[in-house]
Amino acid sequence: MKNFRIRIKRISMIRIKYPVVVIIVIVILNSCQYDSVEELYPTVNECDTSNISYANDIWPIISENCTSCHSGAAASGNINLENYDQVKSAAESGKLLSVIKHEPGWSPMPKGANKLSDCSISKIENWVELGYPDN
Ligand code: HEC
Repeated sequence: MKNFRIRIKRISMIRIKYPVVVIIVIVILNSCQYDSVEELYPTVNECDTSNISYANDIWPIISENCTSCHSGAAASGNINLENYDQVKSAAESGKLLSVIKHEPGWSPMPKGANKLSDCSISKIENWVELGYPDN
C-alpha cells in the first residue's frame, strides 16, 4: 500500500512537470529569435545620400579605390583621377558611372577588385545628378 502511494505521487509529479518543461522549452526557443541590428535600428546602416560633398563623400571613395592606378604620368587607360577637375571630366563623359556600375561594354572598375558598395555608387550618382558640386 505504501509503495503504491509513492508510485501515484511520482506519476502525478511527472504530470505536473511535463507542462512546466514544455513552457520552459517554448520560452527558450523564443529567446533564440535572431535580432539583427539592421532590422532593429534600420537607420543605423542606411545609406545617406543627402548633402553629398565632394570632399567628404566622393574623394574618399575615389582615392581609396581608384587613384592607385589612375594617377601620375602612367595613369591606367589614360584616365587620371587625382583631382576634382579630372574626376569631374570623367563624370561628365559618362565614363565614371558606366565603369563603376559595370555597364556592359565598359571595363568594370575598380579593375580586379570588388564592385563598389551600392551606397558608394548611389553617392557618386547623386553627385553627378547634382551637377558635380566642388564642395
Ligand atoms: C588595378 C588598377 C585599377 C584600378 C584600382 C582602377 N582602374 Fe580604372 N582602369 C584600369 C585600367 C588598366 C584601365 C584601362 C582599360 C582596361 O584595361 O580595362 C582602366 C580604365 C578606366 C576608365 C576608362 C574606361 C574606358 O573605357 O574609357 C575609367 C573611367 C576608369 N578606369 C575608372 C576607374 C574608377 C572610377 C576606379 C575606382 C572605382 C578605377 N578605375 C579603378 C585600372 C584600374
